[in-house]
Order: sequence, then structure tokens, then C-alpha cells
Amino acid sequence: ESPEPFHEEAHDPRRRDFINIAAVSFAGVGAVAIVLPLINQMNPSADVLAQSTTEIDLSKILPGQAIKTSFRKQPLFVRNLTPKEISEADAVDVSTLRDPQTLEERTKAGKKNWLITLGVCTHLGCVPLGAGEGENKGPFGGYFCPCHGSAYDTAARIRKGPAPTNLQVPDYAFNSDTVVTVG
Ligand code: FES
Repeated sequence: ESPEPFHEEAHDPRRRDFINIAAVSFAGVGAVAIVLPLINQMNPSADVLAQSTTEIDLSKILPGQAIKTSFRKQPLFVRNLTPKEISEADAVDVSTLRDPQTLEERTKAGKKNWLITLGVCTHLGCVPLGAGEGENKGPFGGYFCPCHGSAYDTAARIRKGPAPTNLQVPDYAFNSDTVVTVG
């Protein structure tokens, strides 16, 4: 009776498969190592992005409408408040608010109808609804975050739910009556 071949394991086809898979995986890692820096070169650097500005044409946003656009890769809401919405926002007793701010403080002088905010819930960063046709504006008529129910009013101030602060107003300036530069 002949003894068992000593190296049978090395001839096991499953073992060869394993060695082949390992070799392919190493090749894959090598390819990623080469490709990643190329992809990074194609992206604008974080500095460039942080300094970028966005121009918004206000002429097509009707009173009572809010649109969603983007600024520095984040959602941006632009709202054209009606006179009724302005008086409702002004009628709120600011001292009762979690993040007390008047509509005046959140808009530019003489342009109280234009409310520009980031579309990023201050709770955990979801995108609230309310900018866009037929979207749920929530119980305070501004924006409503579907993630955990934060409700913002027409001045995008937090009124109910877990968000700690109002939607953030970015730096912006009017170039003319109908064009704004954000950033
Ligand atoms: Fe908006 Fe939690 S992320 S309520």
C-alpha cells in the first residue's frame, strides 16, 4: 500500500482558485491606488469649492413659491414670501422662539420677501420638504423635515420638532432687483 501523497493539498483545485482570487484582488488594489489620485485631480479642491459662489435669477420665482437649487454642493432654498406670509412671520412673538430671530434679521433691508436659506435640517442634516410644487410645507407653512418631524415657519425658523436652530441663512448679496449672488 502506497503512502498518501504528501502534497495533495497543493493540488486541490479550490486552493488554486483561492490563489487566483488573491492575485486578482491584489491587482484590483493596485488599480485603485493608481486611479484614485487621478480622480482627485479631476475634482475641484475643497478650497475652490469653499470659495465658490452661486448666482440666482429671482425673476421666475413667483410670490408664494419656493425653489430648491444648490450652493457649494448643498441644497439651497429660495422663497418669495407673499405680503400675507410676511405679516404672519412678523406677528410671531420672537421671544417664544427656540432660535429667536425676526424675519427682518433673516433677510436684506427692503427685500423682506426674499428668504434664502440652506436646505439642510439643523437636526441631523436631512433635506426638508416645502421647496417645490406640491411639497409638504408642514404645520407652520414653511418647510417640513420628514426625517424626525422638524417644522419650520415661513421665515424658516424652527417651530416644532428636534432641530435646535433655524435653517441657516448663507452670505449673499443682491446684484440687482432680480439677481442674487450667494457666497
Ligand atoms: Fe430633520 Fe431630524 S434631520 S428632523
